[in-house]
Amino acid sequence: MSRYQQQSAAAAHVGGAKASTDGRRLRVGVIGLGIGRMHIEGWRQHPQVEVVAIADPDAERLAAVGDAFAITARHASAEAMLGTEALDVVSICTPNKFHRPLTLAAFAAGCHVLCEKPMALSAAEGREMLAAARQAGKRLMINFSYRFSAQSRALKAQVDAGVFGEFYFGRTVWHRRRGLPGFGGWFGTKALAGGGPLIDLGVHRLDLALWLMGYPKPTWVLGSTFDPIARELAAKSGKCFDVEDLAAALIRFDNGATLALEASWAANIGEAELMETRLLGTRAGLLQHNLDEGYRFDAHIFMEQNGAQFDLHLHPEAGEAPSAMHDFAEAILQERPHPASGEEGLVVMEILDAIYASARSGEPVRIAA
Ligand SMILES: NC(=O)c1ccc[n+]([C@@H]2O[C@H](COP(=O)([O-])OP(=O)(O)OC[C@H]3O[C@@H](n4cnc5c(N)ncnc54)[C@H](O)[C@@H]3O)[C@@H](O)[C@H]2O)c1
Repeated sequence: MSRYQQQSAAAAHVGGAKASTDGRRLRVGVIGLGIGRMHIEGWRQHPQVEVVAIADPDAERLAAVGDAFAITARHASAEAMLGTEALDVVSICTPNKFHRPLTLAAFAAGCHVLCEKPMALSAAEGREMLAAARQAGKRLMINFSYRFSAQSRALKAQVDAGVFGEFYFGRTVWHRRRGLPGFGGWFGTKALAGGGPLIDLGVHRLDLALWLMGYPKPTWVLGSTFDPIARELAAKSGKCFDVEDLAAALIRFDNGATLALEASWAANIGEAELMETRLLGTRAGLLQHNLDEGYRFDAHIFMEQNGAQFDLHLHPEAGEAPSAMHDFAEAILQERPHPASGEEGLVVMEILDAIYASARSGEPVRIAA
């Protein structure tokens, strides 16, 4: 299964063009056609959305995706697309380094933005993107896609119903036994990616845990990064790889809750792929994890009731959930706040910055109030 096949409310601060529910259509452009293919599929779930234009400097990809989805407006650069097409929303699906400049360009062109995770290379860049969104009166959503699964949504509904009480501890993890990206590419190059598995995989599990916990405010972080497996392999290949292959951190929040976070592209573990988020609450605990070392998920609730321990298991036929793109379109059309806001993306970036800073200094790092 390819990387793409594997992937499947906050402030709205929105002004600009008036949305309506009277059959208005949203014209969408997609920039970057790796995971961008999945965005096109996700946008097509909404009957009032049309993906009218795509952009990618890779001519082969541009032609293949254009043909696959019958999209005729094909551009070799994002700038050409933004300069010629009248778009309502843009998906930004490029290597991380380009998230900030392309988001700013999209706002300048009058578009709402769905930006891939991570939001940017750093919290400073994220702040710039948020400021630009506010100035333009446009929306910024981050594609934290793992919270949109049926299993994640079912757990969130239980959280909102008060089933768990207060969450006080959690552990959220994405490990790969051997899932290193090819050396010499952008994923393993700090200047283009901002970091390794922490910023690539860890962001998803971090967002999922934070979202279920209600995005508490982080106060300090203790983090470590390692690269023993990748360093040796990269040295043999003679190609660039200057990010971690494993990161671990302890994050403390202002309400006293504490979250352990782990992410790796290479680790000597039994599973090819291990995704797991456990949150312990005062009244119940939850577990969201992947099945069969793949990209299907499961959800459990553990609780004590009337002196007995109960396990609740979500029915395996939980069904298909709407895509992040569908929910963004619906929020725009209904003039409602959208999920996975830029503000939440910024909290994730602040935590990542602090983890990398702590790993460098060997000291805990406080996150400014
Ligand atoms: N949400 C998810 O589950 C998920 C999954 C995979 C990737 N991602 C994210 O999506 C982004 C892209 O990852 P990918 O795996 O598709 O990478 P990729 O390298 O496969 O594809 C990136 C594409 O962007 C194009 N591109 C590069 N610079 C560009 C520019 N300036 N303008 C237009 N196009 C440009 C490249 O030619 C390439 O086709 C990353 O930020 C990554 O973290 C998210």
